[in-house]
Amino acid sequence: MNYRHHFHAGNFADVMKHILLRQLLLALQKKPKGFLYLETHAGRGEYDLAGAAAGDSLARQPEYPEGIGRLMDRTDLPAGIAEYVDFVKEFDRRAGNLKAALRFYPGSPWFARQLARPQDRLALCELQPAECAALRDGAGLALRVLVHEMDGYTALRAMLPPLERRALVLVDPPYEAADEYAQLVRALAAALRRFPSGVFAVWYPLTERARVDEFFAALRTLQPPPTLALELTIAGEYSAIKLRGCGLVIINPPWQFEREAEPLLRTLAQVLAQAPGGGVRLEWIARE
Ligand SMILES: C[S@@+](CC[C@H](N)C(=O)[O-])C[C@H]1O[C@@H](n2cnc3c(N)ncnc32)[C@H](O)[C@@H]1O
Repeated sequence: MNYRHHFHAGNFADVMKHILLRQLLLALQKKPKGFLYLETHAGRGEYDLAGAAAGDSLARQPEYPEGIGRLMDRTDLPAGIAEYVDFVKEFDRRAGNLKAALRFYPGSPWFARQLARPQDRLALCELQPAECAALRDGAGLALRVLVHEMDGYTALRAMLPPLERRALVLVDPPYEAADEYAQLVRALAAALRRFPSGVFAVWYPLTERARVDEFFAALRTLQPPPTLALELTIAGEYSAIKLRGCGLVIINPPWQFEREAEPLLRTLAQVLAQAPGGGVRLEWIARE
């Protein structure tokens, strides 16, 4: 397990994932009843961009300048993006940065923590001991936030259904294992059997279209509830950029979520483009 999110923190893929995550949390909070926010691959929660700023090799250069870096000074962003940028700035200040340039970028757990209401609960799973320890330190003592050093796929089986009978589950694996998709689909199948009404959001990289289409086909064999895929590409299919886009599969998306998400993604496609040919794609993998 070599993956370190460090060099990717704040890149275009994090921007897309964290903006949609905030929108999902806000959508679930339209109802007063509390819910479980379960994260299977939570990461360390806070990323020091100064550590990544120099890169450590040609292959590992910081990616945030082409992600959050492009949004920091803009004043023309729609609310769903502007609020995300404001939270990143506030997080950076609270983490101790007194300079104008961004230094500390929040991971997904802290977007959830920021929005959690007293009736909501967070369960954050991370397998890497050092990353998990950092996450636990950042979490401090909070009654409704539990950090678990464990395999996220085991958590999908063990922690569902939740007591609240409502949950938003974020699955954000590193995709470094050859059988990551197979593990993911098996774990989702088990989770859906236990808790078919949960909202599951699964991040995936767009390097090869065919690989993603196979993933969608595997999901269809589960006969899932309504399932939507939202994709952002920052470069066209024939570009030399390896990670030219990413997506979020949402099982049981909130009512008309695509209507809220699409304009935000269209803005991101414009602001974050790195080469011609990028854009936005919406696909229903399964409809009601
Ligand atoms: C993409 S990063 C997570 C980033 C985080 N969700 C965010 O948006 O801030 C993936 C994380 O999964 C962890 N990881 C790898 N395999 C895992 C597993 N089987 N279960 C739980 N965590 C795992 C890695 O150590 C890494 O921190």
